[in-house]
Amino acid sequence: MEILKNNLSNLNIIKNLNENIDEDNINKRVCIFGQGFVGLPLTLSFAFRGCKTIGVDVDEMLVANTNKGLTHHTEKFYGVTITEILNMQLQSGQYKSTVDGAAAVRECNNIIVTVGIPIKDGKYIMDYLESACTTIGQNLKKGDLVVIRSTVIPGTTEEFIMPILEKESKMKAGKDFYLAYASERIAEGKAFEEFANMPTLVGAVNQNSLNRAAELLSVVCKADIIKASCIKAVETSKVFENVQRDVNIAMSQEFARFTEALGIDIFEVVKLANTHKRVNLLTPGPGVGGYCIPNAYHYIAPKAEDMDVNMEILKLARKKNEIIPEFIVNKLKQLLREQGKEIKSCKIAVLGLAMKDYSNDDRISPPIDICKLLVKVGAEVRAFDPVVPTKYNFKVKSEKEALQDADAVLILTKQYNINFDDYEYMAKLMNEKPVCIDTKAVVNAVEAGKYGFLYWRI
Ligand SMILES: NC(=O)c1ccc[n+]([C@@H]2O[C@H](COP(=O)([O-])OP(=O)(O)OC[C@H]3O[C@@H](n4cnc5c(N)ncnc54)[C@H](O)[C@@H]3O)[C@@H](O)[C@H]2O)c1
Repeated sequence: MEILKNNLSNLNIIKNLNENIDEDNINKRVCIFGQGFVGLPLTLSFAFRGCKTIGVDVDEMLVANTNKGLTHHTEKFYGVTITEILNMQLQSGQYKSTVDGAAAVRECNNIIVTVGIPIKDGKYIMDYLESACTTIGQNLKKGDLVVIRSTVIPGTTEEFIMPILEKESKMKAGKDFYLAYASERIAEGKAFEEFANMPTLVGAVNQNSLNRAAELLSVVCKADIIKASCIKAVETSKVFENVQRDVNIAMSQEFARFTEALGIDIFEVVKLANTHKRVNLLTPGPGVGGYCIPNAYHYIAPKAEDMDVNMEILKLARKKNEIIPEFIVNKLKQLLREQGKEIKSCKIAVLGLAMKDYSNDDRISPPIDICKLLVKVGAEVRAFDPVVPTKYNFKVKSEKEALQDADAVLILTKQYNINFDDYEYMAKLMNEKPVCIDTKAVVNAVEAGKYGFLYWRI
């Protein structure tokens, strides 16, 4: 009943996007650092719920585009696209974006940070977060609230961010300004819905900060706002949430090799096991991608090492997931050989480049890793993804172009505008003795077999 009520209220909000300025929120000025996959839809969520918002980003092109109402993001809320929402909020003056973080902080009394911590060669890079927090600290006013929403190494808010804010502002957290951490738990593609309906966890430096943060977060979150005993508990639970998926998927990859040896289908077995109320197995795929899950281990590992805590299982899971692209390329080599072909003289069609199904995000994307490995072994790669905007040498404009004269097709990500099951069409375009590697369980092996495909499912 409660969920239904909240959904109905969201529906009303989205229907009245430009009119719904409630008196309670009208004084709330919110600026959000980082206008990426999280920051932009989050800022718009505050905007269409009546806050005056400013999106801050260092990417000048991104800021120029968002101010023109352009975005490559594919989020929707009750059928309304993020582009439509962005344009409505620009027109109503509830949203604008800027590269001038200093001015934005001076104009707002609530500052939210969604700037990430990238990982390079297993090491985390704090520079972006540090730079955002320095700007915030230098322009902070008495009574402002800062909420960190990025996924961080446990301890970061109090041990890294708070000292920067206090030094730069010459004020004291909890006394002169409020400081809290609220983990971001959305999945791309469901951002608007999950900001509203996923319980939000929050921890803060003191009770006043906790109350102020919970009040701000409740503008967007209609589910429970759970107040934790401390910031570290929320930071840590977020990283654990991500890393448990990494381990779960690594386990599924092992299960997949086991079921393959048994001659049964992993996707069916996972489905069967998940009918148990307390089981939630994930399915194997071409690897683990995106900004969140592959990075999670690297957020935990250095801290664990500092504290002399053994994280062997997590380390092994990460390693297992990292080598899946290589495993798939080796599998392809083997299947092509069975068809009397050598990979280095083959054309390979790749369908799907995003890091997960129905997404346009190709950051840390196993399909991209697979393409690069294929190029490295001398194969000619033609990859098609209708929504990934990034340019690659191996990317082509249509499924047909990818499949034409290909010796093998690799199905790596599901997308709405890719047709995976017209085997006759595929076989007609492709060379003789085609190979099909299916990491998404979208191909009917028996049907594909009728058109001469040598088929292998992850
Ligand atoms: N993408 C997701 O689905 C998701 C889900 C949950 C949590 N998170 C976490 O949320 C955070 C943001 O993720 P994202 O996917 O939105 O990343 P993103 O890369 O899409 O966006 C981050 C943005 O921050 C900008 N930026 C960098 N330095 C800046 C600075 N000093 N000031 C202002 N802007 C700056 C970048 O230009 C970029 O546009 C990360 O910590 C991530 O782990 C992401």
